[in-house]
Amino acid sequence: MKQDEFKHQIWLECAACGYRTPFVRPLKACEQCGGEWLDARYDYDAVRKQWPAALRERPFDMWRYRELLPLLDGTHRVTMGEGGTPLLHATNLGLMLGCPHIYVKDERQGPTGSFKDRQASLAISVMKEHDVTEAVVASTGNVAISYSAYSALAGIKMWTFLTSLVPSEKMREVALYGSEVIKVTASYDQTKKVAADFAARKGLFIDRGIRGISARESMKTLAFETAEQLPGLIGPGNTPWRTPDWYIQAVSGGMGPVGVWKAYEELMTLGLVDRMPKLACIQAAGCAPMVHSFNKGLEEAEPVLNPQTLIITIATGSPGPAYSFLARVVREHGGAFEAVSDEETFRAMHVMAKLDGISMEPAAAVAFAGLFKLLSKGAIRRDEIIVVNCSGHTFPVEKHLLGDEWARTVDVSTDTLVVEEGLLGSLGQLDEQVRTVAIIEDDPQATLLLRRILQTRGEYRIFEAHDGAAGLELVRRERPDVILLDLMMPGMDGFEVLEALKADDKVKDVPVIVITAKELTSAERARLSGQIDMFMQKGSFTDEELLEEILKRAA
Ligand SMILES: Cc1ncc(COP(=O)(O)O)c(C=O)c1O
Ligand SMILES: [Zn+2]
Repeated sequence: MKQDEFKHQIWLECAACGYRTPFVRPLKACEQCGGEWLDARYDYDAVRKQWPAALRERPFDMWRYRELLPLLDGTHRVTMGEGGTPLLHATNLGLMLGCPHIYVKDERQGPTGSFKDRQASLAISVMKEHDVTEAVVASTGNVAISYSAYSALAGIKMWTFLTSLVPSEKMREVALYGSEVIKVTASYDQTKKVAADFAARKGLFIDRGIRGISARESMKTLAFETAEQLPGLIGPGNTPWRTPDWYIQAVSGGMGPVGVWKAYEELMTLGLVDRMPKLACIQAAGCAPMVHSFNKGLEEAEPVLNPQTLIITIATGSPGPAYSFLARVVREHGGAFEAVSDEETFRAMHVMAKLDGISMEPAAAVAFAGLFKLLSKGAIRRDEIIVVNCSGHTFPVEKHLLGDEWARTVDVSTDTLVVEEGLLGSLGQLDEQVRTVAIIEDDPQATLLLRRILQTRGEYRIFEAHDGAAGLELVRRERPDVILLDLMMPGMDGFEVLEALKADDKVKDVPVIVITAKELTSAERARLSGQIDMFMQKGSFTDEELLEEILKRAA
């Protein structure tokens, strides 16, 4: 079996009623009670036997823990070397604070510079496994960036909904990857609603964030790696891997700590560690619904309607089910919810850069500001083993790289009476005249490339057929505005498809662009002449040239 050809069995288990069902596709809710929180379960006995030998052979990246990830078939994996980040010893900071064991999980070193690359790699792989080619995601920045990079690679068109407060550097990076950028002039919570309405209206797959299993399961790999790295830094313990005393993270939706907690539960089941860590969830004081709700002893989070922080990346006003989960964990096992001001955060950012050479984005610095605060309060002891998630870095994309129309704006009135209408009304701005393109091509990689080129422009509805006969049927059914036709296909080849098309009065006028790797003989050239609108040799045209040809014909 090749490295990437893994297959394993997975179950979904309902947290509310315990109902268990084999995982064959992502489910929105429990089939028995309707509960929305479904956990992935695996064959832990098999993993316990397999891992010691298997892990020795595998590279240090997040997919080394594949048996505990919800991808059914490894060939669907969409990967760019995510995970496997260093666990850095913060020596200078430790010296200053009198803490010999502060370790920084350096998630800046992911492909798009944040820990959301773990989530994107798994979520996009799962989308690919279930044949999703177009999806919607709402984000405060980093998820949109990361999903856009991975969906480019996977040939999935991504509609990203961002609150207009997200820094434009982040928005531009999303646009650079060819995703649709929709700036919603509203809070993140309203933005999520606009995205959900849009997805429902268009019948598109929507990323369910913490309610989906991909996000939570991906975050486990952070903890698996940390537990595997710690013995090398602090020495061996009673178990092969080790648990830190504290896991500290800047928290918005709460996927990180929820996933990390599940990871340690699984490592306990496997006998790789012998205790659970304490979780410290740090929020920006101007948007700290978890901290306030915990301090009030609430079971469910009270939303913050009007976030007042510059750190938009973690400004989730309504954290939903993650809060209830994390509050229970902290209540039962120890841990902390803490809020830090923007000023404290910016100071922590400076300190980390100056002392230990680690420059990070403000959202990541929130965790360090939290560490300083919890140490000074005495909630964290100075001799404890502390792991801080350095969750991200911002790479600004130069303004001049993109034209003016890299984003669309949806204006949502803040007047509550017109919000509902406003949401639906403003979505109309995104419904546009689409042109329909049929791709008839047997090579999956070539199909993906053509699809990807079209996806980076908003205006196309794309249909695919992978052989001549299916292509012919597709064209007759959909009557597309333009056809992209390969010549060399098994069974009915492109020449035959073309003859059949031209003999059919209903579709004979649909423009055909032939895209082929084939060197044509003069007889073949003659056969095509007068029948096609354009001939393009694979490997000799750019995305812009192809789009121009399509536009000319499908105007
Ligand atoms: C850099 C960074 N840190 C922390 C967070 C919070 O992550 P979560 O609460 O989903 O675990 C985010 C979320 O987008 C982020 O981008
Ligand atoms: Zn249930």
